Amino acid sequence: MDEFIVGLPKCELHLHIEGTLEPELKLALAARNKIELPYASVEEARAAYSFDSLSSFLVGYYESMRVLQHEPDFYDLAFSYLEKAASQNVRYAEIFFDPQAHTSRGVSFETVIRGLRRAVLEAERTLDVRAQLIMCVLRDFSAEYAMATLLESLPYKEWIVGVGLDSDERGNPPVKFEKVFARARQEGYLLTMHCDVDQENSTEHIRQCLEVIGVDRIDHGVNILEDPALVAEVKRRGLGLTVCPVSNRFVTDGSKSAAIRRMLDEGLRVSVNSDDPAYFLGYVAENLQLVRDELDLSHADLVQLERNAFESAWLPRRGKDIFL
Ligand code: HPA
Ligand code: ZN
Repeated sequence: MDEFIVGLPKCELHLHIEGTLEPELKLALAARNKIELPYASVEEARAAYSFDSLSSFLVGYYESMRVLQHEPDFYDLAFSYLEKAASQNVRYAEIFFDPQAHTSRGVSFETVIRGLRRAVLEAERTLDVRAQLIMCVLRDFSAEYAMATLLESLPYKEWIVGVGLDSDERGNPPVKFEKVFARARQEGYLLTMHCDVDQENSTEHIRQCLEVIGVDRIDHGVNILEDPALVAEVKRRGLGLTVCPVSNRFVTDGSKSAAIRRMLDEGLRVSVNSDDPAYFLGYVAENLQLVRDELDLSHADLVQLERNAFESAWLPRRGKDIFL
């Protein structure tokens, strides 16, 4: 690993906490909660993390979550990620969580949010890493269930900075959730949505994010390069695009590092993130290393990627200064 990459102060904006469930923790939680898994060793559990598309990845991702049952499980999940992040000099992270992946199997919203929140506070105190939580709604569930989840989050609004949209994009465009996101905005949440790489109608989904939803950021969004008018608009609004090269390598035909080069050259606020690092085997430093190697990035390029991340973070600011 390049020492400059390790030492660089980093900001991670596209990270699903459920995607940080390493096989070791999965087995430990299964034992603690007396849940039987179809494998006995970490090696077997890791071998089960196998997929070649977004849909096949999502099957294992949701299936694994049944080991997460109680508040301490969510605490352990988030604190383990934050320890790993701190070890890579991540100074600030915005962490996605998927409440419906838990409420749909009988775990309460309160159990999830209390465990995650406790980990965020403990990490700030003991690891010197700051984090905020972004609640995602699952786009392959109904808009009604998303709205109910949004309403359930309101008592915990102070602990949640924004609302995102993830899961299977096919047939589930941003406009399906127009009312949910309008209410989320009214409640003071900031907004982001996944526009996954090389999905059907990708540029149309980006257009809806901008014109119908009014997002504050776009997750992935690589296909924006196909439409110069969208590029110009995202630049005008200064919106961040959170790209995940190692994840892309698993669920699309490649890392899309050439697109990252173009996005940097276009002056888009592109950042490099890990998405689901336990599944894709790369935390943020490994993601930066991959693009550095593929593009022969300079130190100035690497600094620019992290500057872009901090500048698109949902942190308080005064003028050009950002307050961590
Ligand atoms: N795309 C959509 N949904 C997800 C992802 C992703 O990359 N990771 C976890 N949920
Ligand atoms: Zn994602």
